[in-house]
Amino acid sequence: MAYPETRLRRLRANEPMRRLVRETRLEPENFILPLFVCSGEGVRRDISSMPGNAQLSIDRLVAECAEVRSLGIGGVILFGIPDSKDESASGNYDPEGIVQRAIRAIKREVPGLLVATDVCNCEYTSHGHCGKVVAGEVVNDESIEWLARAAVTHAECGADIVAPSDMMDGRVAGIREALDDAGHANTPIMSYAAKYASCFYGPFREAAESTPQFGDRRGYQMDPPNWREAIREMELDLEEGADILMVKPALPYLDVIARAREQFDVPIAAYQVSGEFSMIMAAARNGWIDEQRAMLESLVSIKRAGAGIILTYFAKAAARALG
Ligand code: PBG
Repeated sequence: MAYPETRLRRLRANEPMRRLVRETRLEPENFILPLFVCSGEGVRRDISSMPGNAQLSIDRLVAECAEVRSLGIGGVILFGIPDSKDESASGNYDPEGIVQRAIRAIKREVPGLLVATDVCNCEYTSHGHCGKVVAGEVVNDESIEWLARAAVTHAECGADIVAPSDMMDGRVAGIREALDDAGHANTPIMSYAAKYASCFYGPFREAAESTPQFGDRRGYQMDPPNWREAIREMELDLEEGADILMVKPALPYLDVIARAREQFDVPIAAYQVSGEFSMIMAAARNGWIDEQRAMLESLVSIKRAGAGIILTYFAKAAARALG
C-alpha cells in the first residue's frame, strides 16, 4: 500500500509519537569522556581549541571524575601530559608516571567510576611519534614493548580497560601477553583497531602536546580511503585478543562503524575526536549552528551507525541534555 493509504507523517505528528517509534536512544552510560592529566596542584590549563576542556592536575581531575560519575557517564579515558619527554617514552611505563598516579587517585577517591587509559607513546616521546624512531622511521616491534609495559603499569594501578591507540602491528597480542603474564588476565583491551591518519586530531595534539616533530603518522595510521583494510585490522585485533573494537574518527567514518557492527559480534566503540568536537563548537560560537542539536545529532548518528560506546568530549554536556 502506498499513498494515500500510507502516510509516514502520521508517526511524526508530535513528540510523544516520535518518542514512541524512535529507533535509537542515547544514554549517558554509553559515553566515555577523554581527560588530560598533568602534574601540579590546582592546575587547570584550558585548551583553547577545545572549549570546556583542559589539562588538569590530579586533584582537579579527581573532582572532574566525581562529576562525571554523578552524571551517570560510562567512564573516562586518560591521556597523560608528562613533565618531560625522551627518545624512549620512559614516562609512559614509569610506575610513578602521571597517568599511573592519576588512576590510583581516581580509584581511591571516585570508586565505581570506570577508568580506561589510552596506551600510546606519542605523548611521551621527544619527537612526538607513537613509537621508537630509528633512522627517521617508527620501528614496530620495539615500540610494542613500551606499550606492553605501559599497559601493565596501568592495570597494576587499577585501570579497568587499556586502549592502545598507536597502530603498530601486533600490539594487541603484545599487550595481551604482557597483561596475562603479569596476572591481569581480566583486564580488557579496547583496541583503536581502525584508526585513520586524520586531520581531525589537530586540536588534540595541542591538548596532549603530541604533534610529531617531523613527518606525519601516515606510515602507521590508516589511509582514509580504505574500508576493507579496516575490516582486516579489526579481524587481526580480535585474533590477537581485543575485547572491544574502536573506529576513529567517528563521523567521517560512519560507514566503517556500520560495517564493523555487521561483521563482528563484539562491542563496537567510536571516538568522536577533537576536530569533530571543535568544528561543532566553532560553528555554534559563530551562531551558524545550534550547539546542543548538533551535539545530539552527531552522537545519535554514531550510535545509529552501530557504535554502542562513544568516546566524546561532549559526554558531560550530552549527559545533562539527556537527563
Ligand atoms: C594518540 C592519540 C591521538 C588521539 C587519541 N590518541 C592522536 C593521534 O593519533 O595523533 C586523538 C584524539 C582526538 O583527536 O580527540 N596516538
